[in-house]
Amino acid sequence: MKTRQIVKTNDDSSTLFVPELNQHYHSIHGAIQESQHVFIDAGFNFKKDFNPLKIFEAGFGTGLNAFMTMQNARSENLSCEYWAIEKYPLSDQEASHLNYPSLLDSESSTKHFLELHNSSWGELNKMHDFFHLKKIQGDLKEIELPTNYFDLIYYDAFAPSSQADLWTIEVFKKMYDCLKNNGTLVSYCVKGDVRRNMAAAGFKVDKIPGPPGKREMARATAIKPQSDASK
Ligand SMILES: C[S@@+](CC[C@H](N)C(=O)[O-])C[C@H]1O[C@@H](n2cnc3c(N)ncnc32)[C@H](O)[C@@H]1O
Repeated sequence: MKTRQIVKTNDDSSTLFVPELNQHYHSIHGAIQESQHVFIDAGFNFKKDFNPLKIFEAGFGTGLNAFMTMQNARSENLSCEYWAIEKYPLSDQEASHLNYPSLLDSESSTKHFLELHNSSWGELNKMHDFFHLKKIQGDLKEIELPTNYFDLIYYDAFAPSSQADLWTIEVFKKMYDCLKNNGTLVSYCVKGDVRRNMAAAGFKVDKIPGPPGKREMARATAIKPQSDASK
C-alpha cells in the first residue's frame, strides 16, 4: 500500500484514505460511529455471554476496532482473546496522529492505544487482565487459522469494488472453518454477491440495520453439522 492520508470523518474521528484504491478505512459518516455500530454493538455486545470471547479481525488497520473492544472488555470484565491480521501495518507516525484516544477518553487512553500498535507481531500479548492481542502480519488469503476456535469475526476488509479477492467463497470458507458452531461474522458489507459467497461457504446470513449512512449490514452465523463442530 503506497500513500495514505489522515482525514476526518463526520463524527470528527479520523480515518485513513488510500488514493491508489480510492478507499477510506472507515465510513466517512463517522469512523467511531461505524465501529461502535457494526463491530461493538452487532458483534461484541451480541456475543458477550461468551466468556472468554475469542475474536478474529480481518484487517487490523488503525486498530480502532481492537481499541474499542479492549475498552469494552475491561468495562464488562469479559476476557477477550483478539487475533488480527494486517498486510500493511501503520507506521508509528500514522498511529500517533489518529485522534481515537482523545475522543474515546478513558484513563491513559493514548498510552493504551499506542501499546496496541507497538505490541509484537506473531504472539499473544497481554494488554490488560481482560484483553490479550495477537497481531499477525500477512495476507488474509494465505493465513492458516485454528479450526472451530473463534466465537466472533470482525470482517473489515476494503470494499469488494477495490479488493474483490477478499470477498470470495474461498476466503469465507476459511472464516467459516475457524469459527465455532454458531460463531458470528459481522461486516459492514451486505452486497448480494457477498451474501451469496458467505452462504456458499456455509453461513446463514442476516441483514440487520446498518450504521448511520448505510441502511443495512451483515451478520452471518456459521452453522456446522454436528460431526464437524466437535472436531
Ligand atoms: C477497511 S480497512 C479497515 C482496517 C481496520 N479494521 C480499522 O478499523 O482501521 C482494511 C484493512 O485491511 C488491510 N488489508 C488489505 N489487504 C489485506 C490482505 N490481503 N490481508 C490482510 N489485510 C489486508 C488494509 O491494509 C486495511 O488495514
